[in-house]
Amino acid sequence: MSIPYTTNIDLQYLGEKMTKEYGFLGVPDYSFEKSGRNQLITLLEEGLMPDSRVLEIGCGVLRVGYWLIHFLDKRCYYGIEPAQERVRIGKEHLFSTEIIELKEPQFNFNSAFDTSVFNTKFDFFLAGSIWTHCSKNSIKIMLDGFVYNTNESAVFLTSYLPARLKKNDYQGNKWVGTSHESDVSGCVRHSPAWIRSECEKRGLTLEKLSRDAFDEQYWLKITKQKASKSSLKKKYNRVKKIIKSRFY
Ligand SMILES: C[S@@+](CC[C@H](N)C(=O)[O-])C[C@H]1O[C@@H](n2cnc3c(N)ncnc32)[C@H](O)[C@@H]1O
Repeated sequence: MSIPYTTNIDLQYLGEKMTKEYGFLGVPDYSFEKSGRNQLITLLEEGLMPDSRVLEIGCGVLRVGYWLIHFLDKRCYYGIEPAQERVRIGKEHLFSTEIIELKEPQFNFNSAFDTSVFNTKFDFFLAGSIWTHCSKNSIKIMLDGFVYNTNESAVFLTSYLPARLKKNDYQGNKWVGTSHESDVSGCVRHSPAWIRSECEKRGLTLEKLSRDAFDEQYWLKITKQKASKSSLKKKYNRVKKIIKSRFY
């Protein structure tokens, strides 16, 4: 059977076209294709397989969903997005009906960051450009969700903007940016030390990935595993090498 993939489309063109037609859809149109692809590549580098179960928190107009739904097996892609219209627009413009029927992506439209709604244990949580808009309380809810709604070897990839100064560390309790209830753009920063302490409270391990994220953000990787001796040794050897190259 030939699979009706929609991979020969000009994704960048379609991203720009959707924005022209509907106005700002939560993501910059100039990097539509590249920023979605960056997220797929990062997931692949962290072990994504076709049968991985992936939950994308804040999936928006499916700029990453496009890649993930095509790559993953049937019923392996799950998206949460309160701006229901964005999902509808993305589905209509980026996919053939056949691929949606074949892959059966699952969506939920709650705005409470409730990751238990699918009654599934996930292998990956992805929050691309979500911690750059949400409150500290929402981050805590997502971390709790990661503890309860994922498998032991699961990976949580989230992009963020670090607050280096106290005055830039977002303390508000509202979403800042466009959403189902706002059309005002904006973004927030969170302190890396605060994020680390929230991970530690839940027994989670936090790592900053060296690969750049998209839209000038940084990647954080969160897992349930304690840093293994071999990964600590690798880190130690890397630091030793840097010191040697700089000072000898
Ligand atoms: C900057 S966009 C990122 C979209 C997508 N992750 C990507 O990288 O293409 C943020 C998305 O989060 C959605 N959002 C807003 N409030 C949310 C909430 N409470 N729960 C989940 N998503 C939310 C917005 O509607 C928007 O579509």
